[in-house]
Amino acid sequence: MVEKRDQQFFDGFMILVGVFVGLIAGVLMLGDLVGDGGPGESAEAHAAIIERIAPVGQVALAGDPSLAAAPTPTPVSPAPTPAAAAVAQRSGQQIYQEACALCHDAGVGGAPMISDPAAWAPRLAQDRAVLEDHVINGFQGNVGLMPAKGARADLSDDDVLAAMQHMLDTASQ
Ligand code: HEC
Repeated sequence: MVEKRDQQFFDGFMILVGVFVGLIAGVLMLGDLVGDGGPGESAEAHAAIIERIAPVGQVALAGDPSLAAAPTPTPVSPAPTPAAAAVAQRSGQQIYQEACALCHDAGVGGAPMISDPAAWAPRLAQDRAVLEDHVINGFQGNVGLMPAKGARADLSDDDVLAAMQHMLDTASQ
């Protein structure tokens, strides 16, 4: 009696063990199939996955050799704008204040005053090249001495001409 029950238990136990071993083997095989490097995965599919999960951008510090291959941004050449013209005008006015106002605001030494259009009318009637020459190189006129560049040798021709333009614009208003 006792021996038969033991035998029945042993049979049942062995069946259970068999089921477990089968389950474990099945899980292992399934894991192998699903997981990375499974027999069904081609090199192509693998590369596609690497590409999909690749980072969107990479950080490169200045001096990184990989930067040599990167396209350098082309600098945008500044187009002449009304704002730029305004700046040039303002700087002409500034130069006038610095270098010319001393004589031309109050008429010192017979200088034609910026606020006196009548004094400028005959000068404006001259050739523009004459005016430019008188301002850059100076001249001794009938009323007084206009020093070369207003005695500001540090100014460029363009600076002096910008200041002159400011004077002429103001005087002819
Ligand atoms: C030291 C005083 C003095 C300073 C500074 C001076 N000028 Fe004069 N400028 C004169 C005098 C004086 C005349 C008139 C000369 C004459 O006609 O006899 C004159 C004349 C001129 C004329 C008329 C020229 C012509 O052919 O009729 C222009 C334009 C002029 N100056 C521009 C300038 C500008 C621009 C500056 C500043 C960069 C300047 N001046 C600084 C004294 C000065």
